[in-house]
Amino acid sequence: MKTEIISLPNQKEASKKTKLDYNNLKVMLPSSFLMDWGKNKKFCIRTYGCQANVRDSEIIRNYLLDIGMTEQDDFLGADFVLFNTCAVRENAENHLYGELGLCKNSYLKNKDMIIAVCGCVVQEDEATKFILDHIKHVRLIFGTSRINSFYSILEDSIKSNKRIVNVSSNDFDVYEEPIGSKDSRLSTIKAFVNIMYGCDKYCTYCIVPYTRGRERSRKEEDIINEVLKLKELGYKEVTLLGQNVDAYGKDRGEKYAFASLLEKVAATGIERIRFTTPYPSDFNSEVFDVMSKYKNIMPSIHMPLQSGSNNILKKMNRRYTREEYLEVIKSLREKIPHVYITTDIIVGFPNESDQDFEDTLSLVNEVKYDAAFTFIYSKRPGTPASKLIDHISDETKHARFDRLKILVDSLTTLSASKFVNRECKVLFDTVSKKDKTMISGYTEEGKLVHVKGDSSLLGQIKTVKILNSHTFSLIGEVIDE
Ligand code: 5AD
Ligand code: SF4
Repeated sequence: MKTEIISLPNQKEASKKTKLDYNNLKVMLPSSFLMDWGKNKKFCIRTYGCQANVRDSEIIRNYLLDIGMTEQDDFLGADFVLFNTCAVRENAENHLYGELGLCKNSYLKNKDMIIAVCGCVVQEDEATKFILDHIKHVRLIFGTSRINSFYSILEDSIKSNKRIVNVSSNDFDVYEEPIGSKDSRLSTIKAFVNIMYGCDKYCTYCIVPYTRGRERSRKEEDIINEVLKLKELGYKEVTLLGQNVDAYGKDRGEKYAFASLLEKVAATGIERIRFTTPYPSDFNSEVFDVMSKYKNIMPSIHMPLQSGSNNILKKMNRRYTREEYLEVIKSLREKIPHVYITTDIIVGFPNESDQDFEDTLSLVNEVKYDAAFTFIYSKRPGTPASKLIDHISDETKHARFDRLKILVDSLTTLSASKFVNRECKVLFDTVSKKDKTMISGYTEEGKLVHVKGDSSLLGQIKTVKILNSHTFSLIGEVIDE
C-alpha cells in the first residue's frame, strides 16, 4: 500500500504561535460517501492517558456513530480500530506498541481493517517515523491538531487505498465540539468540557507543549452553550479541561478570564462543576472567591506540585517556589476550609539529591494531601531535561518512589477515615461489574463511594452515611431514599 504524507510532526516547530480564526469554526459533517461506507461497520477505540484524550476519543467516537457505525470492545471483527495515544511517560508508549502488535492478528484475518493511530505519540518525530517504517498495518496517522479533519482523512484513505499521515506541529486548531446526541459521550451523567487546548509552560520534563501545541482557548459563549446543552440533556456534572485552566483567555489577551468563565458556568445551574488543572502560581484569589461563592463548584482541587525542592522546581522550569506553593495552599484552605487537595509528584528528576527528595517528603507531610499521583521521571524525546546527564541510579529512584508512595498512601488512608460517620452527597454513576447490587459514585470532594442499591440510583445525587473507609474508597448507605 502506498503512503501519502500530508504532513509529519516537527517538535521544534511546535513552539510557534498558531494563527486562529475563531469565527470560522465548523462542526464537521460527513459526506454521503462516508454515510454509505459506515453502514453496518464496527469500530473499536483504545484510549490512553489524560482526560483530554478521553474527550478527543469521545469526539471521534461521535463522528463514527454519526456515519452509522457501531462500537465494540474488541479489535477482532472491527472494521476500524483507533489508538488514541499518550506520550507523557515512556511506559504508556511501550504499551501502545504491545497493543499494536496484538492487533496485527486481527488485521491479518481482515486486511480491510483500518487501523489508525492518533494522539500525542504521533506528534513525536521519532515515533511517527518508527510506526511508518516498522508497523505497516497502521493505515492512518493523524495528530492532535487534526481532529477536525478526521472525516476527510478517513475518506481520502478509503478512496485512494493509501496510508495517510497527517500530523502537524504548528497549525493546531481549536476544534468545535459536537454534542448532537446523548450517546456522543461515554457517560450520560458526567461530561468533560474542553475550555482550552495546549500548554505554554514548557516544564523541562514535559512533552505536552510539543504534542498539543500552544495554548488556545475556546470562546466563552461556545463553552457556556455546551454546558447549557449538557444540562438540558440531563447531565449532572461537568469537568472543565485545560492543561493550565488559569491561562484560559490569555492567548486572547484576557486577564482573570478563568474566574469569570467559572462563575458563568456556575450560573448555568448545572449541579456539579469541577475543573482541572490549575497551575500553582497562576491560581489566583479571584478563582477561590468564585469557588466559595457557588455551591455547585465542587470543593476539590488537583494542583500539581511536581517537587518540593526549590532547586528541582527551578530545573523543571516550574515558575514557583516551595514557599509560594505553600502560600497558595494556605489561602485556598482559608477560603474553602474543607477543600480536598490532590497533586502530581515526580520522583527522580535528573540529579535529584537526597536533600531534594527529603524536601518533597516534608512538603507532602506539611500539606497532608488527600491523595496524590506519583511518577518516576521518564525521559521524553525533544524535551530540555532529556539532554541532562543524570547521575542517580534507577535503584535510588525506585527506593525514593516507594518511600513517597508509602507516605502518600498513609495520608490517603487518613483522609478517607475522616469521612466515616459523615453524611455526604454522592452522585451515582456506575453499577459494579462484579456485583450488580453495588452502585458507585463520588462525593463532592471526589472520593469514591460504594453502596448497596440498584441502577435506579444512577444519575442521582443522594445523601449517604459513610460507614467504613478503605484507602481509595468508602462504603456507605443511602439515607434519603
Ligand atoms: N516523567 C514523569 N512524569 C511526568 N509527568 C509529565 N511529564 C512527565 C515525565 N517526563 C507527570 C506530571 C504531570 C502528570 C500529568 O504527569 O506530574 O503533572
Ligand atoms: Fe506539561 Fe508543565 Fe504544561 Fe503541565 S504545565 S502540561 S507539566 S508543560
